[in-house]
Amino acid sequence: MRKYMISGVNFIELPRDQEKRNFTNAVVEGLSQPQKILPCRLFYDAAGSHLFEQICKLPEYYLTRTEQKILEDNVSEMIDTVGQNLALVEFGSGSSIKTRLFINAALNCQKNLHYTSVDISSDFLRAASFSLLNEYGRLSITAIAAEYNDAIPILPHHEGPRLILFLGSNIGNFGTEEAVAFLGRIANQMNQEDRLLVGFDLLKYLGVIEAAYNDSAGVTAAFNKNVLVRINRELGGTFVIDDFEHAAPFVGTHSRIEMRLISRRHQTAYIAASERVFHFESDEFIHTENSHKYTIESFVGICRAAGLEMHAQWLDKNAWFAIALLQKTSLFRDSS
Ligand code: AVJ
Repeated sequence: MRKYMISGVNFIELPRDQEKRNFTNAVVEGLSQPQKILPCRLFYDAAGSHLFEQICKLPEYYLTRTEQKILEDNVSEMIDTVGQNLALVEFGSGSSIKTRLFINAALNCQKNLHYTSVDISSDFLRAASFSLLNEYGRLSITAIAAEYNDAIPILPHHEGPRLILFLGSNIGNFGTEEAVAFLGRIANQMNQEDRLLVGFDLLKYLGVIEAAYNDSAGVTAAFNKNVLVRINRELGGTFVIDDFEHAAPFVGTHSRIEMRLISRRHQTAYIAASERVFHFESDEFIHTENSHKYTIESFVGICRAAGLEMHAQWLDKNAWFAIALLQKTSLFRDSS
């Protein structure tokens, strides 16, 4: 771990060489399995983060704007519910628009605010932190460039409640067990007064869901293929990008969208960083991401298993998306 300060921002990040080794290992391990997989965190280099920002603006991708409307309508109430002198923590701080809604609402109620931002992309994190700090005189920032799980044990402590944000349906990338484990790890670090705000995508008409991951402009396809572009550039890979096809079907048995890269022909790819060759059959696919869709009940079940309970919830008018405010399950209840 590396800690340093630039222009008033506390940075914490993993060293570069370790990052590269992690990347190589993840790729080799994923592509060596019978069902080839690549972890979706590998999407997010600078180009991938930019492509995701483009996705958020697509007409078909309802998630971002639906969540944002819920936040615009309710952010003051959310801040109010958490209480005075709060600190803000955000996992996956991709969208600075949402972050600003919270910062504005908090600074309306209190003098100063400490904001901790956790993101895998250090370049993105750096740029976002500097512009926030320039904009808000009463804001201080800790920026942690790491995987979420590594960041949880090193989150700054705070006198007063912490409001922890996990928005954008990022939770949907996790399988049920992983989601329980992740929320449970956060719950472990929470005090009774801390609150966790989670945005999650709801089950709905499947045409709406599938269109969001198969946009007509092909931005999601480019986002998906960017992982191969990255492997070529950073690990000396020889993937022919056009020989892979984007697909994103809804898989009902798991209630999720699965992002896939389908090999159009029998082919091989060499990865110099690992001195390994990988074979692909025609129509064989690499599974690159899961995006789970929930009911309120299925989500409450995950929270309960993680030691969290619903304090409040907000939905849009169509019930397409939900935001839950969670607290640690109270051990002692008044039974009277
Ligand atoms: C950032 C994980 C919420 O699953 O909807 C968007 C990523 N993948 N289009 C999602 C994504 C394809 C997105 N999350």
